[in-house]
Amino acid sequence: MRITRNTHTALNAAPHPAPHVAAVSPTPPEPVLELQDVAKRYPKGQGMVDALQGVTLRIERGEHVALVGPSGAGKSTLLYLMGLMDAPTAGRLKLLGRDTTGLSDAERSRLRGRTVGFVFQSFNLLPHLSAWRNVALPLRYAGVSRKERRARALEMLARVGLAERAEHMPSELSGGQEQRVAIARALVIRPQLLLADEPTGNLDSDTGARILELLEAVHARGATLVTVTHSAEVAARAQRTVQLRNGRVWSDTRAGAPEARGDGPSH
Ligand SMILES: Nc1ncnc2c1ncn2[C@@H]1O[C@H](COP(=O)(O)OP(=O)(O)OP(=O)(O)O)[C@@H](O)[C@H]1O
Ligand SMILES: [Mg+2]
Repeated sequence: MRITRNTHTALNAAPHPAPHVAAVSPTPPEPVLELQDVAKRYPKGQGMVDALQGVTLRIERGEHVALVGPSGAGKSTLLYLMGLMDAPTAGRLKLLGRDTTGLSDAERSRLRGRTVGFVFQSFNLLPHLSAWRNVALPLRYAGVSRKERRARALEMLARVGLAERAEHMPSELSGGQEQRVAIARALVIRPQLLLADEPTGNLDSDTGARILELLEAVHARGATLVTVTHSAEVAARAQRTVQLRNGRVWSDTRAGAPEARGDGPSH
């Protein structure tokens, strides 16, 4: 088969085909995210906090990037911007080739809706909805039928080991179980881009390892994955590590390649 840009896109449009379907293709890299001099400034009390300053970054289709750095470095802020949950104060951000500058909240959420899966650091489950209804929610926004929503939500819950908890409310789940529901909700739309903020932060090592395997399987089938982590072990499984410090890219390292520095430790 001659692999064209279109076949590549088609393969990647559904990151969860049967396991025997290979999604690897030798086409030139295509950017999923392009950030140019991105800044984010929050008002705080009388003053302002510069959570991000001058972040320039390009993430190609199919990459697995670990986003690391000390607490307060701006990792969650950057992930929010990448997932169009929020807009930069300055700079440009393109998602899948589309410039998002000046888009309204509604336009941003439409663009995000079918393409981006987001695992929040604090889960953000809706407290009045059962586990499976939380997982099914993004499918409702994507216009999937009621029957298929339930089937796909239950299947996803089974994949994160929570088949027995489908009818439980978030308040009846442990922190680690809530985290797995949040992961199921991010994966259920079969996202092209998966953004995960400390996806294994609340899990014991066995459950964490299973979740990492699940994320890696999604990545292996074509999705682009950006994982925020404090764990060196999790970061070591990514092909590229971007380190933030004080809201700037401090280092950007690809496995097996010389380190490309941002502001770098020597500055
Ligand atoms: N909504 C907000 N309003 C004001 N300041 C904020 C807001 N969100 C984040 N900040 C500030 O921006 C900076 C970066 O925060 P962020 O949550 O991105 O850090 P982080 O790298 O994810 O940290 P952690 O590892 O602790 O999760 C911090 O100084 C934080 O206090
Ligand atoms: Mg954070």
